[in-house]
Amino acid sequence: MISKPAFASAVGRRSVMLGGGAAVALYALRLPGTGHAAGTSPAVRAYSLVAERGRVPLVGAPYPETDVWCYGGRVPGPELRVRQGDRLRIAVENQLDEETTVHWHGLRVPNAMDGVPHLTQAPIAPGETFTYEFDVPDAGTFWYHPHQRSFEQVGRGLYGALIIEEPEPIPVDRDVTWVLDDWRLLETAAISDDFGNLHDVSHAGRVGNTATVNGRVPDRFAVRAGERIRLRLVNAANARIFGLAFEGHAPMVIALDGQPVAPHAPEGGRVVLGPAMRIDLILDMTGRPGGRFRVIDGFYEGLEYRLLDIAYTDAPPLRETPLDAPVRLSANPLAEPDLAAAERHEILFGGGMMGGMMSSMMDGRHMDMREMMRHGMAWTVNGVAATGHVHEPLITLARGRSCILTLRNETAWWHPIHLHGHAFRVITRDGAPTRYREWQDTVLLSPRETAEIAFVADNPGDWMLHCHILEHQAGGMMGVVRIA
Ligand code: C2O
Ligand code: CU
Repeated sequence: MISKPAFASAVGRRSVMLGGGAAVALYALRLPGTGHAAGTSPAVRAYSLVAERGRVPLVGAPYPETDVWCYGGRVPGPELRVRQGDRLRIAVENQLDEETTVHWHGLRVPNAMDGVPHLTQAPIAPGETFTYEFDVPDAGTFWYHPHQRSFEQVGRGLYGALIIEEPEPIPVDRDVTWVLDDWRLLETAAISDDFGNLHDVSHAGRVGNTATVNGRVPDRFAVRAGERIRLRLVNAANARIFGLAFEGHAPMVIALDGQPVAPHAPEGGRVVLGPAMRIDLILDMTGRPGGRFRVIDGFYEGLEYRLLDIAYTDAPPLRETPLDAPVRLSANPLAEPDLAAAERHEILFGGGMMGGMMSSMMDGRHMDMREMMRHGMAWTVNGVAATGHVHEPLITLARGRSCILTLRNETAWWHPIHLHGHAFRVITRDGAPTRYREWQDTVLLSPRETAEIAFVADNPGDWMLHCHILEHQAGGMMGVVRIA
């Protein structure tokens, strides 16, 4: 089931360095954009992305390179980095043998640019190009990935970071992105091709055996004593939840899913990210030159492993005490939900193994769990196991209404639940108010947990609401929220 990443713990002899340089080298080819008339229309940032097959040194010597599907020949795909308020224009060319789309996870884009096959656009056929174009209203850490057969397309390496810079970024010495992933590799470092098997679908999803940071099994992350790093974490794994402890350091959380949050130490000292979630940290490198500290992923009990070492160079400290500068980010322009006037709905997530007897609807027919599983399905939202992306909406909300959704996890499993096109405040968990009333686009529900989320339904269209464990999504755990 869930196994320890074998390669990640067996690579101490090699030295793969992750530096700030890595982030810079990942910039996409930026095409000349059309200029902006001062103060009127936004600057257009034009990029092209090619979805194609590639070969990358995921594990590193002596292992062979790994065949992947990726953007522009590398994993992760190019880091797209633009300024808040810019307009993005991205031509996506499909050089795969199957249809694809690109979803801009967490960005509040117009519905037609959301990248959901059949629901918001026709899938991009092999050999074809589709151009996405939209303004970016929010600053923060986001990412992009296909929404077509994502359990395999994302699982084979199609994803990249999308960073929207604040007009006035907080002062740091380095701004670094770690795109985390988890792979199921064979001895030859080839990807195991058992995508979408019923065991993964009906249990914890495709949890793998090899963790990577920016497409490499990492060994160390080189830092200089005294420097302040803004570390942007993105969990691009199909199913693995990461719970990172930074030994000897005291990270501060400053943003969740790209949205600013009151700066705080992570609960229990551990930075927890479910699939698709992002966390921005401020990390002051308070160790001494030459020091070495481990970053441990200890989310699954008994399966802890060392993700990498933070390795201090011998350079003299950049400063003796941490940088005295603000770490609080300014808020994005999100509409504040009116809780007193909000309309309320309940959404139930069911199914999976150990969930008890369940009967559900699939393609308009009643089925029990056993029959559902014969069709490769295992999960439901409000009693329905969704096949494909197009559905009668779970709920229809009037445009501009404030609403509170009660998300009830009636299963024995974790689920990161993602709503497209919006950010929402997580206002309660199991009935208790949350401390930070954090804005998120993906809320991680623990087994049997209930959370209330609140938002203003201000982006019209049909939006997916689904579990971001991609095997759970494929196994029925999705639905549509209509804003009309
Ligand atoms: Cu990150 Cu519906 O997806
Ligand atoms: Cu799930």
